[in-house]
Amino acid sequence: MSNHIHLDHPIFPYITQAASELGVDTYVVGGYVRDLLMHGPTKKDIDFVCIGSGIELAEKTASLIDPKLKVHTFKNYGTAMFHAFDTDIEFVGARKESYQRDSRNPIVENGSLEDDQNRRDFTINAIAIAVNKENFGSLIDPFNGIADIEKGIIRTPQDAHITFSDDPLRMLRAIRFATVLQFSIEQQTLEAIHKNKERIKIISQERITEELNKIILSKNPSIGFNLLFDTGLLAIIFPEMQALHGTETINDLSHKDNFYHTLKVLDNVCEMSDNLWLRWSAILHDIAKPPTKRFDPRHGWTFHGHEFLGSKWVPGIFKRMKLPLDAPMRYVQKLVLLHLRPISLTKENITDAAIRRLLFEAGDDIDDLMILCRADITSKNKMKVKRYLENFDIVEKKIVEIEEKDHIRNFQPPISGELIMETFGIKPSKPIGEIKNCIKDAILDGDIKNDFDEAYQLMLEKGKSLGLIQVHGNS
Ligand code: CTP
Repeated sequence: MSNHIHLDHPIFPYITQAASELGVDTYVVGGYVRDLLMHGPTKKDIDFVCIGSGIELAEKTASLIDPKLKVHTFKNYGTAMFHAFDTDIEFVGARKESYQRDSRNPIVENGSLEDDQNRRDFTINAIAIAVNKENFGSLIDPFNGIADIEKGIIRTPQDAHITFSDDPLRMLRAIRFATVLQFSIEQQTLEAIHKNKERIKIISQERITEELNKIILSKNPSIGFNLLFDTGLLAIIFPEMQALHGTETINDLSHKDNFYHTLKVLDNVCEMSDNLWLRWSAILHDIAKPPTKRFDPRHGWTFHGHEFLGSKWVPGIFKRMKLPLDAPMRYVQKLVLLHLRPISLTKENITDAAIRRLLFEAGDDIDDLMILCRADITSKNKMKVKRYLENFDIVEKKIVEIEEKDHIRNFQPPISGELIMETFGIKPSKPIGEIKNCIKDAILDGDIKNDFDEAYQLMLEKGKSLGLIQVHGNS
């Protein structure tokens, strides 16, 4: 690799001028450099480090771009940032850091460029490119970060114990980079993660979850979850998933290892969808298998009700993980609850009523549910896989036919509670729910059409059978 790098983001001329006016040596560092060297600029943030005050450099640069540009400064950390050219531009003065044992708050001292590179997390993130006039574009790579990019290695610049103990979030960052970039973690670095794993407990859940989500959004999240498992971090940050690991044998019958099965399902889903919540559904679909596991001498291993218990666990897991408790959580709950339904449909004769019920319960998420179900077929028996997938084709064809005919997907009850109250002259009470359910069931079972007139007639009949007297409307 040449020692000179071409930098063409519109921020650079301003930085160069500001650095020259202030007389400070300035470098671009971190993720922007890493990505630039790997595959051209992609990141929407750029980090600059200068041998002096990062805040002054930020203010000077911003004033050259536009005197009205707002600079955010964080005096305690000696950092500053502003947003320009659709990019977050961040500044820090080069520093030496040492940390207090029981917190992540660093004691910050001014330092040289080398001190600053040394305190960074990984060699691939510790490459600097000078941006002053006289040395614009020249590489400073004291820890051979470029060689590590070429070899695909995650390694810390200094003793890995110090790097991780200083900032334990970096253990997850190592695993995240290894997953996203498909790099391997160098042996000593990996051992240091194992040794320091307990220190992850001082990191806030939000930051842990942010890294987990980046792992989950990668092409093959199983790489990351295997590393989390092997280093012992998974047991600390996600004990329910850890509990999926392992098999048991009774009377020569073993059940599959649900941890590796879940990872396969997750990777399969990732081939078909980028939806983070569908990916979370894959992670959680069998989460309640361990507590529902039974051995029955006649039927072997069973996990009856794991889909119900699993969907009940979703809110607790989402709350602890600080994941959103609104629509995404309800979606994951629904998919976990329904994940066995399409496969059970394929085992019996597929009735229209069963398809209508599934459409009603899944609503607009039916297509995602089918992706999850297809991904869930991880058997090594090719014939079995073929048979299941063909059955799913039949189910999907039926879903399309029935949806065209009956419009169940976004089912709106044809008779409202208000109309029932008005017709029978009653106040909100139990019979209203009973009548509504009776109409819904009749439509789903195909006894009446999903239309107003047939539903109205049924409402009158059901009301009568409940002893209600019609006081309003057509009879
Ligand atoms: N850094 C670090 N330790 C951390 C976080 C960041 O040493 N816990 C350093 C690394 O040199 C990193 C740089 O700060 O490259 C910028 O951090 P950040 O923007 O969070 O990460 P990037 O590497 O830029 O990548 P990403 O945005 O994907 O996290």
